[in-house]
Amino acid sequence: MWGGRFAAGPGALMQAINVSIGFDRRLAAQDIAGSKAHSDMLAAQSIITAEDRDAIHMGLDEIKAEIEAGTFPWSEELEDIHLNIEARLKDKIGEAGGRLHTGRSRNDQVATDFRLWVREHVELFQNQLTALIEALVEQADANADTIMPGFTHLQSAQPVTFGHHMLAYAEMFARDRARFADCHTRLNESPLGAAALAGTPYPIDREMTAKALGFSRPMANSLDAVSARDFALEALSAATICATHLSRLSEEIVIWTSAQFQFIKLTDAFTTGSSIMPQKRNPDAAELVRAKVGRIMGAFTALSIVMKGLPLAYSKDMQEDKEPVFDAFDALELGLAAMAGMVADMTPNKERLAEAAGAAFSTATDLADWLVMNLNMPFRDAHHVTGTIVALAEKQGVTLDALALADMRSVEPRITSDIFNVLTPLASATSRTSYGGTSPDNVRQQVTSWKAKLT
Ligand code: ARG
Repeated sequence: MWGGRFAAGPGALMQAINVSIGFDRRLAAQDIAGSKAHSDMLAAQSIITAEDRDAIHMGLDEIKAEIEAGTFPWSEELEDIHLNIEARLKDKIGEAGGRLHTGRSRNDQVATDFRLWVREHVELFQNQLTALIEALVEQADANADTIMPGFTHLQSAQPVTFGHHMLAYAEMFARDRARFADCHTRLNESPLGAAALAGTPYPIDREMTAKALGFSRPMANSLDAVSARDFALEALSAATICATHLSRLSEEIVIWTSAQFQFIKLTDAFTTGSSIMPQKRNPDAAELVRAKVGRIMGAFTALSIVMKGLPLAYSKDMQEDKEPVFDAFDALELGLAAMAGMVADMTPNKERLAEAAGAAFSTATDLADWLVMNLNMPFRDAHHVTGTIVALAEKQGVTLDALALADMRSVEPRITSDIFNVLTPLASATSRTSYGGTSPDNVRQQVTSWKAKLT
């Protein structure tokens, strides 16, 4: 009945489903920090002696060194990180080790460890996003007047500047950073001292442990403290939105590096060759960043479903909170680093971008706007006249700025040679000086204000 690895019977099966040390050992540093803060507080409140506290600290330091050196004797029988460390502490220091768990439970312990781990990553992501924004701003600075086609429906729409395109992503990633910062303020409360679920009769000082661990304050409700996981959900949701933005930029990199577009070049640092087609240079890094959003969004879904039916307070279901978060945050960390690298690495192909910017009658709107501004034509009529002129150019197989004035006049006699001042892609982009528009001057101003914000 108990096939394969569970041949030893229910005991082995129970251990297999219950054990978490294989993944929650990633919380070792947080667990040790929490135990040090807790034992400091126990001694300060005279719940344990100063000698016991010192022995506990010494033992924990040794354990930390063992874990870092890879010599810690991990045990599956001891289930999780908390019991592994506590048992080792007792081996090392004897009875004093048994006093560490006074006035706390694994429930507030794991909630504290996990919060600390998530907080560290939320801070890491904010820093990584800053680095990514810096790379985008550098590209924008170098390409404030690099003209490229702007798209809607992936159809050439109007010329824009490459710098403007880069800064659009800087805006998105800055909002992502703000979401992580916002999440940080809410998650930064300490569950430690909530004990199993109801608090404890010992005269503990939760303010003290909260402060020692860098939390703003202790959580106000012990039931909430041990059962809340919305801090992880919130961080995952910020991660999901951020990964969505990374995926969109990745998609553009994939399109832009294709032989059909050739808008940018990536070096060998972020591309790979094909094993069979020698001419190929594949944007694998961008493709993989694009794909990471799957597991990140999946983690949000997984944890939401774990949590959605749980009554207060702690249930063992919550042990399933860690793996999705670890996996998602590893993916986001890598994705953010790879994207910052790719943005710095890419070289826009200015000739090709300019050529593409002029194709597909991308300055048709400029022609219509000229008719409105110079001939006082209603925009709808100007749109119609422009459509007729575009059809003429299309028939002759020329771009709008190459169409003869006489041909344009055959449609609207009041058109003058001034029209040619607005028909090139550069003129089109340069004219878009409205706030938030694509003109090179606007981009330069934005670059200046980004650089001021970033320092
Ligand atoms: N390994 C557990 C977890 O990750 C620690 C808390 C266990 N608490 C308990 N009452 N069994 O959730």
